[in-house]
Amino acid sequence: MSKMTFVKCLMLLVTLFLLTNCTVSDEDYSASDENIMLLDVQNIGAEVQGTMYGLFFEDINYAADGGLYAEKIKNRSFEFPQALMGWKSYGKVEVRTEGAPFARNPHYVRLSAPDHSQKHTGIENEGFFGVTAIKDAEYRFSVWARQSGTEGSRIQVELDNIVSMEESQVVAKAELDIVSREWKKYCVVLKASESVGKGVLRIFLKSTAGVDLEHVSLFPVDTWKGRENGLRTDLVQALADLRPGVFRFPGGCIVEGTDLESRYQWKNSVGPVENRPLNENRWHYTFTHRFYPDYYQSYGLGFFEFFQLSEDIGAEPLPVISVGLACQFQNDSQDAHVPVNELKPYIQDALDLLEFANGPIDSKWGKVRADMGHEAPFNLKYIGIGNEQWGEEYPERLKPFVDALRAKYPDVKIVGSSGPNSEGAQFDYLWPEMTKLGVDLVDEHFYRPESWFLSQGNRYDKYDRQGPKVFAGEYACHGKGKKWNHFHASLLEAAFMTGLERNVDVVHMATYAPLFAHIEGWQWRPDLIWYDNSRSVRSASYYVQQLFATNKGTNALTLLMDGKPVAGNEGQNGLFASAVYDATDEANYVVKIVNTDSLSHNVHIQLVGLSEEQGVVEAVRTRLNSEEPDVDNTLDEPNRIVPIEKSIKVKPNSKSIKTTVPASTVEMWRFPLK
Ligand code: AHR
Repeated sequence: MSKMTFVKCLMLLVTLFLLTNCTVSDEDYSASDENIMLLDVQNIGAEVQGTMYGLFFEDINYAADGGLYAEKIKNRSFEFPQALMGWKSYGKVEVRTEGAPFARNPHYVRLSAPDHSQKHTGIENEGFFGVTAIKDAEYRFSVWARQSGTEGSRIQVELDNIVSMEESQVVAKAELDIVSREWKKYCVVLKASESVGKGVLRIFLKSTAGVDLEHVSLFPVDTWKGRENGLRTDLVQALADLRPGVFRFPGGCIVEGTDLESRYQWKNSVGPVENRPLNENRWHYTFTHRFYPDYYQSYGLGFFEFFQLSEDIGAEPLPVISVGLACQFQNDSQDAHVPVNELKPYIQDALDLLEFANGPIDSKWGKVRADMGHEAPFNLKYIGIGNEQWGEEYPERLKPFVDALRAKYPDVKIVGSSGPNSEGAQFDYLWPEMTKLGVDLVDEHFYRPESWFLSQGNRYDKYDRQGPKVFAGEYACHGKGKKWNHFHASLLEAAFMTGLERNVDVVHMATYAPLFAHIEGWQWRPDLIWYDNSRSVRSASYYVQQLFATNKGTNALTLLMDGKPVAGNEGQNGLFASAVYDATDEANYVVKIVNTDSLSHNVHIQLVGLSEEQGVVEAVRTRLNSEEPDVDNTLDEPNRIVPIEKSIKVKPNSKSIKTTVPASTVEMWRFPLK
């Protein structure tokens, strides 16, 4: 034996000794079944993109109006096709358009005195599933108004608890004098003397002189960052707590519209809120078995608010806009779409959006942004063109967009689509087309059952490293026969996400979908965050997303079992795992293990590439699991399934980690090497 070989053998023996003797160990570890995973701590791998793990926002399930957007008044501008939908009127009330203050929202109401002093004229709004108020909280009422005749008039504004058995149902009230023939905005803050679940906002005419009212609004004073056209604090906090890397907006199918007329038009969503025209929301009628005839888009939460929120929560904004194809699921005829040679205004919309986000304040759209209060550019870097499109009609329309965007904004990254399915003919046709067009990322969608999620651990291992990158833009595990939020679906999402993490060189963005759902107004589930008018709850899937997003690290690490990625393959006992290095944190090695099996499994993570002095000195283990796989957190029990952190005792200079991962468990280890 040469001296060199002798030294190598000695080193191997020392390593083996250290591996078997110095371990971080779970208290219940026994080595009867041992799944050995080798973690290479020396070779720092591909960079994790800052855009990894983000948000997909669509106004579905009352996500904007009635949800994140804190406005409490439905049909505030009387622009629904049935002008008084959401309102009750009494006495002498007339819907009018003459002399309206806002050209794009031309309807307003005129309140005139009843013909007897004991009678009343007024209107009352039912809100979104009720006008809800919290005891002692303040609400900012505002209205655009003018006296309808020569004399000044007076209105009384009330918050009423219409199911209360108390002597008085009024929980807040104020009076306003309307003393001008010109339209003006009037405001007053109402303080609720008690909590109200399903209340109403009432406005009585208190004078004999009449009044004209437009854009009736009621916001909590306490909105996210105290903004007047604001967002619900609890819901934004839930988004911020995910530390999202990217924020896609405004969808989803509503980008396309049922027809071109109802597509999301970003230019209608900016400028003064009073003059943003109403749009139909396709989710009001897409599913007749969950029909919501009062679901419209006020555009109060529009593109400015989206960019501002992205900035607030540190996510890269990713707007998606129409490619000139109306929803292909709902339109068989080519006539539904814009002919290729008539796409110019649509392409201009894309270019103008970049100017709105990034342009100088003396440019047309940069000025609109500045006038809305944001002189500095939003530094938009990505744009998606088209949602779930397919067939030749998509690439032929996308091409002129790509040409125009590349010519004017060569640094902006373009996201194309691979259609509505995660595989199959449309998918196989579109990926090469996207590569040919040279888009930067391709959006993939998969709402799939358990079997699919279990089989996709290696999905991205095989992707072309030279082509466009992947944006897993809409996904969620839809349990077979169990299409609702439940822990087992979240577990399989976590298993799948280890494959995203292992392939961060090719997967650059991933967003669970949909994001939000109102418990009284949903059309689609499962969803990430649920709420009613005053409470919200984070689902188990939320905690899975959060675990990955807040522990995404800066670089991938290689973790192998029997020389293969741990991806639920044959002989791997239903285990999935991935690992990252975090250059920004002290506890800079992170291993995520997902046990999808119904038995617990022993896992022995051996650290490869350590120097003799190096070892684990402390570790934190986080677990997410549930004894009831078919349930999730609820508004009444929001903490049924939450991650549990534990500091684990460490023997000095430990060279490996032994853990018994319980059945159906997401487990994460975070540790520094010293
Ligand atoms: O997330 C709900 C819908 O699913 C989206 O609008 C659409 O893109 C997909 O089909």
